[in-house]
Amino acid sequence: MKITVVGTGYVGLVTGTCFAETGNNVTCVDIDAGKVAKLAAGQITIYEPGLEKLFERNLKEGRLQFTTQLKEGVSDADVIFLALPTPPGEDGSADLSYILKVADQLGYILEDYKVIVDKSTVPVGTADKVREAIARNAKVEFDVVSNPEFLREGVAVEDFMKPDRVVIGTSSEKARKVMGELYAPYVRQGNPVIFMDEKSAELTKYAANSFLATKISFMNEIAILCERLGADVDMVRRGIGSDDRIGKRFLFPGIGYGGSCFPKDVQALVKSSQDADYDFRILNAVMDVNEQQKVFLLPKIEAYFDNDLKGKHFALWGLAFKPNTDDIREAPALYIIDRLLAAGASVSAFDPEAMSNVKQLIGDRIRYVDHQYEALENADALIIATEWSVFRTPDFDKIRTHLKDQVIFDGRNLFDVPRMQELGFHYESVGRQAVTRLNSVVK
Ligand code: UDX
Repeated sequence: MKITVVGTGYVGLVTGTCFAETGNNVTCVDIDAGKVAKLAAGQITIYEPGLEKLFERNLKEGRLQFTTQLKEGVSDADVIFLALPTPPGEDGSADLSYILKVADQLGYILEDYKVIVDKSTVPVGTADKVREAIARNAKVEFDVVSNPEFLREGVAVEDFMKPDRVVIGTSSEKARKVMGELYAPYVRQGNPVIFMDEKSAELTKYAANSFLATKISFMNEIAILCERLGADVDMVRRGIGSDDRIGKRFLFPGIGYGGSCFPKDVQALVKSSQDADYDFRILNAVMDVNEQQKVFLLPKIEAYFDNDLKGKHFALWGLAFKPNTDDIREAPALYIIDRLLAAGASVSAFDPEAMSNVKQLIGDRIRYVDHQYEALENADALIIATEWSVFRTPDFDKIRTHLKDQVIFDGRNLFDVPRMQELGFHYESVGRQAVTRLNSVVK
């Protein structure tokens, strides 16, 4: 099939590349000429494991093209995907101006039947708005479909190539057939393509992300309770997760969810609910808990240093909002840094991928180092904010020799509590008992 993807951001580039990978002919359109030039020259613009290889191959074999010209880009397309940004506006609702502007232009441009697909996460009712915007000027038949993405950063290629499910919202039989054919190669293992109406598809995306965010905030509150009652959240997690109805995944407590999706989508669903004259009470609590959770380690750190962080130096492992990405949007590490600096402390940070993004955002307010152990030099304590694999089995002797004080605050529960006790660290994590320096466990 001939596919056009409008918007070469994270979702657009993964979508375009993965559609090319199964033999479709894909044209990606973006208004950013610099980005288009880079991509056309074979330079990938985002970090996503496994994507570069696919991108290079499909570009070389001529199945992937890039252009700034919408008209030229869509002229012979069968399906046009809109993968445009929907940033939260002042009031938390998704800003649809990018999508509606392109929809308006499409109205003038279309010369024959096309299926136009909303891939961006958009509020319920957007497909209707897109349809109206195109119809104002269109002289040909077209269909608008809602096809939300469920890609996780870091495993987006895998998620695209082997999705748990594909959700397609359309009321048109013709569009349904086209979309079914397009996705057939990706669901050969038997995972479902679920057809529904546009509004249900749009809401499915928000409901999925909000549900997952709820699971995380719930576990973060259970973790708080575990600390207060002397229970161990790892045990509770395993205890409840083996119930199929609850499931093992997404039950890990930590220092809050971040990234480009959960915070934005939960907020947008709360706003949509308000617009529909309904107060979505659970989600307000989910957001509240998450705000607190991002700085969960701070009171522990402050208490350890007798509420005086002035002049203290901290090593920080992890800046990205989660491992295997350079994305720092809503990353808990940034909130921790803010609080530490405001209290008069200094920070040396290491992250395998996200350091240049943080540098761009906050400049030299912190020190960036090339190696995880270098961050520990002269540090009073180590703080872990992201669970990168390289942090999971560190050389504890090295940590011991480099750190000034044998203190670790772990926001991602990377290490076993008994092991840390054996090694003689002061070790505090999330929802588990703290190990004091005197080698005893405190409740
Ligand atoms: C998410 C959804 O998973 C994906 O389906 C959607 O399309 C986009 O949003 P992503 O933002 O890439 O994907 O991250 P994800 O891996 O889902 O993690 C989200 C956040 O939750 C991270 O900050 C992560 O650290 C946190 N998390 C996840 C937990 O705190 N505990 C868990 O058990 C799982």
